[in-house]
Amino acid sequence: MNIEYFHDYAAMNARGVSLVIEEVNRRPNLMLCAATGSSPLGLYRELSDNFNSQPNLFKEIRIIKLDEWVGFGKNAEETCEHYLINNLLKPLNISEDRYISFDPDTQNPEEDCIRMQGLLKENGPIDLCVLGLGRNGHLGFNEPGEYIQPNCHVAKLASASQQHAMVAKGNITPTHGVTLGMADILSSRRILVLVSGEGKEEAKDNLMSGKITTECPASFLWLHNNVDCLIMD
Ligand code: GLP
Repeated sequence: MNIEYFHDYAAMNARGVSLVIEEVNRRPNLMLCAATGSSPLGLYRELSDNFNSQPNLFKEIRIIKLDEWVGFGKNAEETCEHYLINNLLKPLNISEDRYISFDPDTQNPEEDCIRMQGLLKENGPIDLCVLGLGRNGHLGFNEPGEYIQPNCHVAKLASASQQHAMVAKGNITPTHGVTLGMADILSSRRILVLVSGEGKEEAKDNLMSGKITTECPASFLWLHNNVDCLIMD
């Protein structure tokens, strides 16, 4: 794992953007898996600025959504859908045919996971997977526990996830999410993990210890040979 520490969020984002652009130059139709949350927000904003100066760079890239809350419905501001539309799809002018997504409006999350798995198989592999580290060490909604799951699945949310800023302000407390699984993530050609935000000391220490455990799903990143981990110190 290539680990880099930053004291400045802007410097971390600049490094992240240079890495994304390196990959887009390598593969113009790059499939980028996108996490939501606060960690990658600055990176997405920087990418939008890049789009304004070089729109052609992004004209073929494809986006796949990492995870989604269950039960909010497609128009809710809490959804990862809403976040991605506003922070990545509109700013980079990603057309519908270049976007693969868990359905925020699904009545049947299990079925939606099967559909997503099929789309990933058809369109994959993921070229660059952009991840944030959860406060409890999760990746997407691969939550800590006795075991991790390889593929797309419905996850029972840990309480730390239920209190995540994306959903904390509203009246609905989500109980479940849908997410790509750990094998789906680890099958990516390259992984970029952004570690920033309050309350992550324990998760960060667990990840950095190099001990691989299902109690810290992010620790499985040590099994991948092309991970860049950018950490706010
Ligand atoms: C949520 C999101 C994930 C995100 C994670 C970390 O669970 N669904 O996609 O990576 O939280 O979020 P943050 O970066 O806000 O700490």
